[in-house]
Amino acid sequence: SHAPFSARSPALRLEIVAQCPTTKARVTRMHLPHFVADMPMFMPVGTQGTMKGLTTQQLEDLDCHVILGNTYHLGQALLDEAQGLHKFMNWNRGLLTASSIDSGGFQMVSLLKLAEITEASWMADGVEFEAPHDGSRMLLTPEKSIDLQNSIGADIMMQLDDVVSSLTTGPRLEEAMYRSIRWLDRCIKAHKRPQEQNLFGIIQGGLEPALRRICIDEMVKRDLPGYAIGGLSGGEEKDQFWRIVTLCTDLLPKDKPRYCMGVGYAEDLVVCSALGVDMFDCVFPTRTARFGNALTASGPMVLRQTQYEHDYRPIEEDCDCLTCKGYTRAYLHTVVTKETIGCHLVSIHNISYQMRLMRGIRESIIAGTFPEFVRTFMVKRFGEGN
Ligand code: GUN
Ligand code: ZN
Repeated sequence: SHAPFSARSPALRLEIVAQCPTTKARVTRMHLPHFVADMPMFMPVGTQGTMKGLTTQQLEDLDCHVILGNTYHLGQALLDEAQGLHKFMNWNRGLLTASSIDSGGFQMVSLLKLAEITEASWMADGVEFEAPHDGSRMLLTPEKSIDLQNSIGADIMMQLDDVVSSLTTGPRLEEAMYRSIRWLDRCIKAHKRPQEQNLFGIIQGGLEPALRRICIDEMVKRDLPGYAIGGLSGGEEKDQFWRIVTLCTDLLPKDKPRYCMGVGYAEDLVVCSALGVDMFDCVFPTRTARFGNALTASGPMVLRQTQYEHDYRPIEEDCDCLTCKGYTRAYLHTVVTKETIGCHLVSIHNISYQMRLMRGIRESIIAGTFPEFVRTFMVKRFGEGN
């Protein structure tokens, strides 16, 4: 009955499916140029062209609707020649790209070590990176970041932001927040395909409510198709983290997607969904798989431990992933740290775990039983407590 995309956000429409009456959790469908994504959702990192990644077919089989594209190792000429990353990686669903080297593999600490903010006025204002593979230095400006992301052609692209550790306070934190707003304006100006690609702003301001408010106020004025909550998950206390997410979801527009960056622990996905976050990404599930850790309802299973040597059960009885259907803990115990296939199989289970968790969240919101879902989840994960 109505056009698929509104005039305001020509490449995105958010359909609100259900709202939890007790919490701020909601189920939405995000209509993107390549796919309609059910949210709240977890977005895994797409194929990295290495043994670390899953294939796009596997990600599709796992029912991933949107993945993060990891692209900094690909040249822009190659992306232009290949007519974008969707085609190049044979993925026809939702794709989100980060503004810089951080796509998915983001680690604030390593970013801080790699990057240096250029302040000299005779130079373009941007981030100076040392390329991880060859050590060459390049200056990434908002214009370059957007130009590259326009070549990639993802459904969602992220602004270039100035990220500081979530524990930073004082003038450096304030500077990073205001710089991120200035860089957002340069990203908006440089964006050549607003009809086809959605540019998201990233709210900064660390653990300072006043700075977060200013940043939200300014960025909401820009009327972007969606907003990310950045600068969290860097070692701050949980209650501080949740307080900032609460403030952000209270102030961000209800009719736009909210994306909490770099968040992927199960308990954070559940709590932040309750706080009204729609999108999450994190390298944790695949990274921890490489160390032989499988995600389960009762917490991580360290498959290296000798207790699994003769354990012929699957990782989780009620998991329907390829790994749990075909392989035992004993087998995984043997191969997990020695063979590529081991970490690959655990990765499949871990992504499947994240997808199943998000599906459970969505289904319970729709059924009106989300608070009960949260309680059951917490008891399974942490026990009855006192
Ligand atoms: N990943 C996790 N947090 C952030 C952030 O604040 N900015 C960017 N660009 N990536 C992130
Ligand atoms: Zn499984």
